Amino acid sequence: MKAAVCTAYGAPEVVRVVDVPAPVAGPNDVLIRIHAATLSSGDARIRGANFPPGFSIPARLFLGLTRPRNPVLGTELAGLVEAVGQNVTRFQKGDRVFAFPGVAMGCHAELKVMPHDGAIALMPPDFSFEEAAAIAFGGTTALYFLRDVANVQRGEKVLINGASGAVGSAAVQLAKHYGCHVTGVCSAANSALVRALGADEVIDYNASDFAAPGLTWDVILDTVGNAPFARCRNALNKDGRLLIIAASLGELVKAPFQSKMSGLRVAGGTAPERAQDIAELKNLCEAGAFKPVIDSCFPLDRICDAHARADTHRKVGSVVVTL
Ligand SMILES: NC(=O)c1ccc[n+]([C@@H]2O[C@H](COP(=O)([O-])OP(=O)(O)OC[C@H]3O[C@@H](n4cnc5c(N)ncnc54)[C@H](OP(=O)(O)O)[C@@H]3O)[C@@H](O)[C@H]2O)c1
Repeated sequence: MKAAVCTAYGAPEVVRVVDVPAPVAGPNDVLIRIHAATLSSGDARIRGANFPPGFSIPARLFLGLTRPRNPVLGTELAGLVEAVGQNVTRFQKGDRVFAFPGVAMGCHAELKVMPHDGAIALMPPDFSFEEAAAIAFGGTTALYFLRDVANVQRGEKVLINGASGAVGSAAVQLAKHYGCHVTGVCSAANSALVRALGADEVIDYNASDFAAPGLTWDVILDTVGNAPFARCRNALNKDGRLLIIAASLGELVKAPFQSKMSGLRVAGGTAPERAQDIAELKNLCEAGAFKPVIDSCFPLDRICDAHARADTHRKVGSVVVTL
């Protein structure tokens, strides 16, 4: 099968489309023919070894010292079930599915094997492969941080910094779904989109600083990495929560102390990759509460262009690779 292989850490051109052995489904597995996958900020980070400050050495130890140990990137996909193992009853050949292998990656390829009880679900019926492929990365992150970490409540004021990215555009929609009053921070060019996703207010970060004295929020979710506790402390209400999902190692180490000293909650870390969250996102999509935003689509043989687009840090929602 064809796959995009990351031959080294570096510029987009280190990725080459080559023939690799096709995976084979075991008795408990599902073999999926991939029609679309995203090229996420995570894929671009790994390819470029562009990790948040302090994470360079731990990330290379985990992912591979001089190049990714698992050279086929891509954390989420949508496609058709090609075959199932003998013990699998949950899916059958021809099912339209989306899936989130997450750190196991391997979605920038024609075929992917997943365990049948992994993070796979049938696609929302009216979704395209491109839309279904873009549900999980932003969706699971927004779901975990807003619902599980912040436990957002109806009527709370939530600010999403980076509201037009893959995570931010999902977070705006989910916070609205949970009944919050949502403020999105983005550039002026994306203001109309963020409002259309459900934001009650939009702040253009080039025109004003959301953390300047005056306005306050119950929850601030920072997807950009430029809203540490020192900047946000006075912009949080009593019992406020700061979600630092793109934080440096230093900010993460300081978070428990900042929480203890301030009585506020500062939380970061990595969103888990859970089958039940994929099922919940499917329900939210079918209920009309969540629809992923697509920035652009590139065929697999133009995957270097897809990486270059993600490298701009200006994508609007998800970059999709089609197969
Ligand atoms: N902790 C976790 O589990 C987890 C999970 C997933 C992702 N992440 C991290 O979350 C971050 C965001 O991921 P993503 O996929 O959403 O990224 P993305 O799609 O590349 O986000 C790009 C967006 O950021 C906006 N942006 C850039 N500079 C900004 C600024 N100064 N203020 C406000 N918005 C700004 C851009 O909007 P404009 O064009 O309008 O500027 C663009 O729409 C990444 O660092 C990723 O590694 C963490």
